[in-house]
Amino acid sequence: MARGRFILLEGCDRAGKSTQCSMLVSALKARGHAVELCKFPDRTTTIGKMIHAYLTNAQELDDKAVHLLFSANRWEAMQSIRRKLLSGTHLVVDRYAYSGVAFSTAKGLDLTWCKNPDRGLIRPDLTFFLDLPTSEAERRGGFGEERYEKRELQEKVRDVFLQLQSKEWVMIDACKSVEAMHHEILKETEHKIQVAEADAKLAEED
Ligand code: ADP
Ligand code: TYD
Ligand code: MG
Repeated sequence: MARGRFILLEGCDRAGKSTQCSMLVSALKARGHAVELCKFPDRTTTIGKMIHAYLTNAQELDDKAVHLLFSANRWEAMQSIRRKLLSGTHLVVDRYAYSGVAFSTAKGLDLTWCKNPDRGLIRPDLTFFLDLPTSEAERRGGFGEERYEKRELQEKVRDVFLQLQSKEWVMIDACKSVEAMHHEILKETEHKIQVAEADAKLAEED
């Protein structure tokens, strides 16, 4: 059996990550795949609750301390993520370490310092970057109450994301319709899964 694929959706705020994650999970389920949704930050854990208090301005925290909390929130999920992938379950993940680096660097922390705590995390097999200009994001309704929902910061975050971009990323134009984006994301994901299944079959025959 092939290991599950780790499919990551990253991008700017309101680019449609959560919408596309849930559509992708439903489409893969409908095709008979074992698949689960993961979301970072995971606000349900003890660490996640501290992050939530910070994001909702209920608590002040040092920028470096909160960066480490976001990273720890990923590390505490690793055992469960590894177990699920090894059991053949695909994971669709809404934000991960790139968000961690992009937001903290945009706040003024050093890029290399920001990358270090996430070194060694399970790597995504496929990363989509949903790109939306900040001016378009603003048209999708007013910013909410959370700490990072400010235009100036969001623009810096997008610049850092684009700096982090690697050639393996699949860039999705998030100005397109929900359906058009879903079609592209599903096609690429199914291809990735098919290749992994074919490789696993070959390995069995060896
Ligand atoms: P994110 O998780 O990236 O912040 P969401 O999926 O929550 O984004 O979407 C943010 C808002 O934009 C929601 O109101 C959603 O309905 C809307 N939206 C999502 N995708 C699109 C799209 N392709 N075109 C127009 N509006 C969209
Ligand atoms: P999220 O819960 O995904 O909010 P939304 O669905 O409204 O986009 O993320 C909350 C905020 O946390 C968001 O502004 C991005 C930020 N963030 C970090 O600063 N570091 C991180 O490591 C992660 C995963 C998110
Ligand atoms: Mg979201």
